[in-house]
Amino acid sequence: MPTERKLRIGLAGIGTVGGGVWANLARNADLLQRRCGATLEVVRVLARRADRARELGIPEAILTADPERLTADPAVDVVVELIGGTTDADRLIRASLAAGKHVVTANKALLAKHGRELFALASQYRRQLLFEASVAGGIPLIKALREGLVANRIESIYGIINGTCNYILSLMNDRGLGYAEALADAKAKGYAEADESLDVEGHDAAHKAAVITALAYGFWVPEGELPTEGIAGVRRPDIIYARQLGYELKLLAVIKADPDDSVEVRVQPTLVPKSHVLASVGGVFNAVMVRGDVVGDTLYYGRGAGAHPTASAVISDLAELACLGSEGIYRLPVGCGTCAHRLKPIEDIISRYYLRLAVVDQPGVLARVATILAAHRIGISSVIQPESHEGDTVPLVVMLHDAQERAVRAAIAEIAQQDVVRAQPVTYRVEDFET
Ligand code: HSE
Repeated sequence: MPTERKLRIGLAGIGTVGGGVWANLARNADLLQRRCGATLEVVRVLARRADRARELGIPEAILTADPERLTADPAVDVVVELIGGTTDADRLIRASLAAGKHVVTANKALLAKHGRELFALASQYRRQLLFEASVAGGIPLIKALREGLVANRIESIYGIINGTCNYILSLMNDRGLGYAEALADAKAKGYAEADESLDVEGHDAAHKAAVITALAYGFWVPEGELPTEGIAGVRRPDIIYARQLGYELKLLAVIKADPDDSVEVRVQPTLVPKSHVLASVGGVFNAVMVRGDVVGDTLYYGRGAGAHPTASAVISDLAELACLGSEGIYRLPVGCGTCAHRLKPIEDIISRYYLRLAVVDQPGVLARVATILAAHRIGISSVIQPESHEGDTVPLVVMLHDAQERAVRAAIAEIAQQDVVRAQPVTYRVEDFET
């Protein structure tokens, strides 16, 4: 009789995602066994909180608070890193790979920071480092890019890849909630990172954009160089004016390759035309549109955060190891400098822009603004002046034609200095998703 095949798992971290992995491995144990021809068994759990372990029903016998009990345990085949952060998690992953274990991680912050070295290490030790859960929660985007779209040169990727921000913007848009109230709701539902500033300041989405870029274009954006802006500064009037102009304001990751091999990578609140499919992605849902030169446009949609969707992605990596056997999987290199692509400087990018000014309500103001824009060779495509006063100022909303970022920055700096302009101008890029 053949001996039973097993994948022996060391689970590090039993927070939101770790708890989801534990519960769903148990819930679908038989199904996974049948599909993979192997049992997926958690043999060791690294946890700091015994009360949380009890709540999840994890037997005390497999619990440890010592990371070495995972990394040095010969009975562990794969370490699942779900502790987060970039110090202890980094140590754990390096030690696990060095000890001959495969690693599954959801840690986009760590991959964005040390991905190049970690994948090189995995390759040196001939172990797998799998990371499906690091981007877009339950959406199998990594497998799509790595396998399903392997025949393609990737032309562009547009993504709503932070569930918390999309959820907050949706609550502000649709239910008129204030920012703080919407954030508290997202945290209560387990969508936000332990450090919520990672979400609302755009860093979490930027980490994911860096991971996707490495996968699609073979280079890691140097830490701190990915243009990033979150939603913490978004104000409701801009959401409303954007809607009046036919757009939804979304935190959008844009990754676009130019023919010269430079790649535009950025994460910012962006106006998305209401007619585009990404404009209708609401709540905690993520969606990513990938355009390949062979396949054309493809779209991936699903829950981007939360215990169960993320657990679904983690378990997919475990199942892959269990199904295929650990030694024989061929993997395309991730961000190991395999191609000529490089980051495009943000000043060089060309985009349309939304501009909102708080101006004194007097004749000639619009003409002054238009003159400055024209001097920087920037055209206006439309203007609205909503009939609302804020103190002694009125809003002036101007949509700009395609312009280079460098010129827009210079023009706005000049506009901001005008005596009739009474607050720092607000600008957002407008994405047209050229066909
Ligand atoms: N905080 C993240 C989000 C969780 O809201 O998208 C998934 O990475």
